[in-house]
Amino acid sequence: MPAIVLVGAQWGDEGKGKATDLLGSRVGAVVKFNGGNNAGHTIVIGSGEQREKYALHLLPSGILTPGCTPIIGNGVVVDLGVLFEEIDGLQARGIDTSKLVISGSAHVIASYNRTLDKVTERFLGNSKIGTTGRGIGPTYADKMARIGIRVQDLFDEDILRAKVTGALNIKNQILVKIYNRRAFSVDDVVDELRSYTERLAPMVADTALLLEQMLDEGRTVVLEAGQATLLDVDHGTYPFVTSSNATAGGACTGSGIPPMRISRVIAVVKAYTTRVGEGPFPTELLDESGERLRTAGAEFGTTTGRPRRCGWFDAPIARYATRINGVTDFVLTKLDVLTGLHEVPVCVAYDVDGTRHDELPMTQAEFARATPIYETFPGWTEDISAARTLADLPRTAREYVAALEKMIKAPISAIGVGPGRDETIAVRDLLD
Ligand code: GDP
Ligand code: IMO
Ligand code: MG
Repeated sequence: MPAIVLVGAQWGDEGKGKATDLLGSRVGAVVKFNGGNNAGHTIVIGSGEQREKYALHLLPSGILTPGCTPIIGNGVVVDLGVLFEEIDGLQARGIDTSKLVISGSAHVIASYNRTLDKVTERFLGNSKIGTTGRGIGPTYADKMARIGIRVQDLFDEDILRAKVTGALNIKNQILVKIYNRRAFSVDDVVDELRSYTERLAPMVADTALLLEQMLDEGRTVVLEAGQATLLDVDHGTYPFVTSSNATAGGACTGSGIPPMRISRVIAVVKAYTTRVGEGPFPTELLDESGERLRTAGAEFGTTTGRPRRCGWFDAPIARYATRINGVTDFVLTKLDVLTGLHEVPVCVAYDVDGTRHDELPMTQAEFARATPIYETFPGWTEDISAARTLADLPRTAREYVAALEKMIKAPISAIGVGPGRDETIAVRDLLD
């Protein structure tokens, strides 16, 4: 089996971590190809008293699968302090992290970029993006402006000092003159980054070369996205997006795996919709129905703890994800959260200024004015968390799934009925 891409179909937190984890021990490597510790993936392993919950931010979900090689690709931005904290946390719980490999071409998040992320948001006031404040945007901006610091730069103090000096020549001007903050000292930044080198060195490799070798050996490689389609810097609800390519195209540039080696694109989609941070969200529910979804789905951010905005399933968005990513399979998550609803509305199209739009309107201004056109499906009351086949689902739940499948134009190959690894209906094998 060649390379498989796994992306989020909505605005993040669809359950990508659980979906990657589900693919299990047949996977040779899991590569994180974009984003950084803005991501938060919660993975629940074991059942009953043995239930263990892990929250991952920077490490690929494959770190929890024995035998799997977790890889941080060149497209990721790495906060080294967070990386080692996360590794220490997992080691303390008996997880083997020794197989982790990090690309020498990944960029590092320097302290001044964490500060810049926060002060820029403050200055934007009402126009703020609602970022996670982890320095993601400024670090990607530096990458494009060619003043970024890469993992490989840390191993030669002269090179590192020259690069940090070059970056701070610009950044300190911005911090001091525009934002009225104190300047960062080159020595402090260099010392902090150099303090990680000894521990980092054995993990660093040419990950694109390593991946080519693994694929040539016939091993399965999963390219796991952080964030999601509507948060993609090119294809999302710009400017209310993250600063990387979270769609399938980003998997190639962010890992060094060429497009022809990718045979499957799995998109994870929630049975309703959530969003964290600012930006348009046509199906958002500001009433008690939204509160019900938030409580039943435990919709609070894994990274920042912020309450997630909740709304009904938006079919044009999921169909858009199918188109942009070339989705071959959907994993539908959190169907169990809808249990107990008398009826379940689904957005099938939008009304924009009196005109019906079956697909996302071309401009963000129109999307911001879009109001949902709903079709309503009968709900179900039976507990579905023990369902393991489609036949175990109540008829109305099956009909809801079948209706979504038709609207999103790609097969639903697995269905989540609870957070646990085993709480899944496997419709067809995602790795065959
Ligand atoms: P990610 O960022 O896409 O990996 O998703 P998050 O981990 O941020 O958020 C998804 C949350 O839903 C996590 O707390 C998961 O444990 C949980 N989850 C995943 N699948 C299901 C499911 O099918 N049912 C329920 N009830 N919870 C789920
Ligand atoms: P996972 O991988 C949900 C959102 C932030 C903000 C915007 C920009 O867990 O699905 P950033 O810090 O990236 O510059 O913030 O993107 N955001 C996420 N929302 N899930 C995520 O990751 C997110 N990562 C970033 O809330 O609106
Ligand atoms: Mg998340």
